[in-house]
Amino acid sequence: MTFPQRVKIVEVGPRDGLQNEKASVSTQAKLAFIDQLADAGLSVVEVTAFVSPKWVPQMADHNEVMQGLKRRPGVRYPVLVPNMQGYAAARAVGADEIAVFAAASEAFSQKNINCSIDESLARFAPVMAAAKQDGVAVRGYVSCVLGCPYQGDVPIADVVRVAKALYDIGCYEVSLGDTIGTGTPTKARAMLTAVASVVPMAQLAVHFHDTWGQALANLYAVLELGVATIDSSAAGLGGCPYAKGASGNVATEDVVYLLNGMGIETGVDLEKLSAAGRFITAQLGKAVASKAAVALAARNQ
Ligand code: HMG
Ligand code: MG
Repeated sequence: MTFPQRVKIVEVGPRDGLQNEKASVSTQAKLAFIDQLADAGLSVVEVTAFVSPKWVPQMADHNEVMQGLKRRPGVRYPVLVPNMQGYAAARAVGADEIAVFAAASEAFSQKNINCSIDESLARFAPVMAAAKQDGVAVRGYVSCVLGCPYQGDVPIADVVRVAKALYDIGCYEVSLGDTIGTGTPTKARAMLTAVASVVPMAQLAVHFHDTWGQALANLYAVLELGVATIDSSAAGLGGCPYAKGASGNVATEDVVYLLNGMGIETGVDLEKLSAAGRFITAQLGKAVASKAAVALAARNQ
């Protein structure tokens, strides 16, 4: 048992959380949400995506989000970038940290970014070179690490290959995405153990969607392996528009409550975080999908 003493939470609510929502959220509301998350103690907040507005209209205000960002000291604000066009656009409005995203499933890669896995990695090469020159840190995502909405099962060897490729081209951290939330603890452990044999555990993150209600169980299982970076989304928002049936990320409030209970530090204030989750769900006209946040609100009444 090697539970970490401290976990870094990468809050993906403003990007993953909002990219799949039908209701549109104003740029001002996004900016207020981002600032509330940073104020709650989250040190990494993924704020938007420089993808095609035709593909993901919810992220079309990426320039305005970056230009309106009130940067707090000690907080990082990465953005998603699929290619050089996205990189140039992100840099033009001051992005200083980015995330590239690939998949372990060919079928999903085609649906999500309209190219094969190898083509996506080739597209990242000039992005990595430019980022290195500009001193921009790059995170890498691997989607479909525990299943694909089109292909079904995804061999662990395919996850290992893409994670290693992202690490080898210079990603400082590789986030392993259970995009459709079908994983279960034993599978999650086997997948992470295999990836950690080629990428150091300290450079790995887990990104679990909660579609089948397994995310917290999966997190507990992989925390025991020593992974110390967790992606999550306030109020449990999230989902990928190109992953049929995918629902929200594991809720940040639930992750913080779990880690608090285990004596693992996060630096996050659960009350402030819950307020941020209530704020954004009110904007969307939907309920908070975090049991911890709901319980906290009931206790505070
Ligand atoms: P494409 O159509 O193959 O691109 O799309 P293209 O290079 O052939 O260009 C076609 C058009 O797109 C052109 O415009 C380009 O200018 C434009 P047109 O001449 O038709 O007006 N274009 C762009 N516009 C803005 N920003 C760009 C850009 N690049 C080209 N960067 C592309 C390829 C990647 C752009 C497209 O497929 C796309 O935007 N996909 C978005 C996919 C996406 O955002 N998915 C959700 C995020 S991933 C996720 O959620 C998973 C994750 O959370 C982890 C997990 O859960 O597993 C990270
Ligand atoms: Mg995701």
